[in-house]
Amino acid sequence: MKTLLVLTLAFVASVWADETILDDMVIVEADSHRSSRQFATLHQTPYNWATLIGFGLFRGQPDLNQACVTKEGEYGQCMTINECYPERKIFQTEAKDTWIFGLYNTCKYESPRGSQVFGVCCTKYTAQVPRLPQAENEVSEEVDLAARACSPSPTNYQCTYDGRRIVNGGEVSRNSYPFMAAMMRVSSYSNRPRQFCGGSLIDESHVLTAAHCIEGFSASDVKTLRVYLGAHDIYDNQDGRSEHRVVRVIKHKDFDPKTLINDIAILTLESPATIGAKISPICLPTVDYDYLAQTVTVAGWGALSEGGSQPHKLREVDVKVLSNSECGSDYNHRIPGQIVSSMICAADTNRDSCSGDSGGPLFLKRSGFKIQLGIVSWGIGCAREDSPGVYTRVTKMMDWIRRIQNCY
Ligand code: ARG
Repeated sequence: MKTLLVLTLAFVASVWADETILDDMVIVEADSHRSSRQFATLHQTPYNWATLIGFGLFRGQPDLNQACVTKEGEYGQCMTINECYPERKIFQTEAKDTWIFGLYNTCKYESPRGSQVFGVCCTKYTAQVPRLPQAENEVSEEVDLAARACSPSPTNYQCTYDGRRIVNGGEVSRNSYPFMAAMMRVSSYSNRPRQFCGGSLIDESHVLTAAHCIEGFSASDVKTLRVYLGAHDIYDNQDGRSEHRVVRVIKHKDFDPKTLINDIAILTLESPATIGAKISPICLPTVDYDYLAQTVTVAGWGALSEGGSQPHKLREVDVKVLSNSECGSDYNHRIPGQIVSSMICAADTNRDSCSGDSGGPLFLKRSGFKIQLGIVSWGIGCAREDSPGVYTRVTKMMDWIRRIQNCY
């Protein structure tokens, strides 16, 4: 149960304001990557108004009596709210009432004493020339994200294969799994990034991981992410790894934190990885095959035993693929969901992945290729008898993965 507990902690309070939902994706972009138009649309609710003040995002707003454009694309003039709506007596506003402005179109101006005051973009006294369809070159973020030109192969390094805790595992020899990604987070109180999940490099700009790893992330949470590639000892600064920031996280829209169905997400790296001997993508399968009873490997920096400590150096363990019906009879009577076709289970006596391995790859080794079949997702405890490790079945997710690789 410990691992389930670990998961719950990650689910605290989802931050809606930062999410864009597009088809079957939920996209959160790091703060600096969001368009100015997105901030404009945030003016609509009092909640976001408060957020905006908090982050001081009013720079660049028109000054008093200067022309402004509302979020609906109408022309106006920036004035005090009482000037614009003299008939409404409610606007004897005090500082605590500023949320009211959020219902209108905001702008800022300087008071005679030089302090900054908020006003409204008032359209009542401005003749409306033809309306702007979209204010100048600002495109709404939804349109922006949806209208991306997607090409079949925007990234150069992809590997496809045509063919299928680390508890009681062993240390990996350095750089033998060049696709391994360590997902780290920097916190405000410690500048030493902490490992919380794993992932796999699937081309030079994308890391495949589990949705539960990034559940509830806001735009500013995305900025705290660091992905280590080519890493072995993640707490050794002389390790020769390459560190990447993340510009965007996309999780599956149908990810259900309760049942962990569709536990899949992709991170877009700020700077593409330099592909070579130490860093290179894992292969993804092209055919949907069940891989029953095959020996597969899982690698990660997760706990060495249930409730145990986490190693600094990358480890691996071999496990065997179970059938979904066998896995379902182990689990279905005691879990909130079910073992579904988009999950794949693997286990072996006293061998398993464990907390901290989440998001990392379960892969098959074939004639020198490593082919990813699963994403570490969940289990009850670690390496318990009758509690196999459960993984997101990659073969069932290939369309989703390819779409994101090609577009985002
Ligand atoms: N949810 C865990 C994590 O956050 C992974 C659990 C895998 N558990 C297992 N028994 N295979 O790291």
